[in-house]
Amino acid sequence: MMLAALAGCFAAHFSEAAQAPKRLPNGGIWPDVDGVHINAHGGGLLKEGGRWYWFGEHKIAGGAGNKAWVGVSCYSSDDLRTWKREGVAFAVSKDEASPVAEGCVLERPKVVKAATGKFVMYAHLEYKGRGYGAAATLVAVSDAVTGPYSLVSAGRMDAATWPREIAAGDRTDATLRDYTRIPQPWGGFAKLWGSHFGEGQMSRDQTLFRDDDGATYHIFASEDNSTLHIAKLTDDCLAHSGEWTRLAHGDWTEAPAVLKRDGWYYLIGSGCTGWRPNDARYYRARSIWGPWERMGNPARGVNPANGLGPEKTWGAQSTFIFETDDGTAYALFDIWKPSNAIDGRYVCLPIDVSDDHTISITWRDEF
Ligand code: DGJ
Repeated sequence: MMLAALAGCFAAHFSEAAQAPKRLPNGGIWPDVDGVHINAHGGGLLKEGGRWYWFGEHKIAGGAGNKAWVGVSCYSSDDLRTWKREGVAFAVSKDEASPVAEGCVLERPKVVKAATGKFVMYAHLEYKGRGYGAAATLVAVSDAVTGPYSLVSAGRMDAATWPREIAAGDRTDATLRDYTRIPQPWGGFAKLWGSHFGEGQMSRDQTLFRDDDGATYHIFASEDNSTLHIAKLTDDCLAHSGEWTRLAHGDWTEAPAVLKRDGWYYLIGSGCTGWRPNDARYYRARSIWGPWERMGNPARGVNPANGLGPEKTWGAQSTFIFETDDGTAYALFDIWKPSNAIDGRYVCLPIDVSDDHTISITWRDEF
């Protein structure tokens, strides 16, 4: 009798364990349902129809993999751990004249659902063979969440529009000249927004953020990476509305990711050291339009696989923040492998939000 009860208990426990989705090792291989390491770097998540969708850069092997030869991958999951590859959501073009020709740079794609019911993708785009100078924004749209997404526009945005903090009476050529250049920590000068007023503002590392009033914002490293911009999108999400602001001026912040909790906005980012990891930082504000207050490094603990702690953000760089139905906010990070881009790894950790409106993120071996 006793033995039978024990056996039953064991069987129940065993089948529960068999059904529970496998935890993913932070910094390790994250196999999809076919056993292949997930290929969705610099990515972002969207929940649609009760299912999660993960969009990210599809990389190939070797150093060449840092360029876009395939496009943007999409994966889907019910539990955030069991991921099915849905294929290529946005494909780069075989047409050499296309702004998204194979071999361009297409980084940090993010997707939102617009008020129109369509799905809209934003990404950082650099034209093939032209380094990182274009600092352009790619916008693509699809009727279905998994794609295919088709190109809406590729280029600079916010041409001849003013940051909202510049009062109407100050919108003069003299003001533009005040915002021309800034010394770079590594020598030389970077161009500020006044230098790009006519052609539109630079946009490199980027994310999208949907506020709880339904407004959507594009947040990106601009002004030669010296400063972040926040631009409100139009209701169809296909363009910037013309309302934008600057934050973290002169802080050289990349990899922005945004969380809102109890009326406070938190923006996590990294320093500006290419593919090499550096120390994370975060900002907080009571309004998306600021003022944004620079806080410290939210990272805590050490990644035992590489011995790196907060000073290098465990070897990782932020890419996106999402919230699950139980109210937990998670930050997704990349561990870049620039010499074999396809081998880039992921880290996903819960964000602790304190009553005093500070945040911290502590290393855990598994997601
Ligand atoms: C750091 C950025 O965060 C990445 O997305 C990528 O643009 C690399 N720089 C390129 O060096």
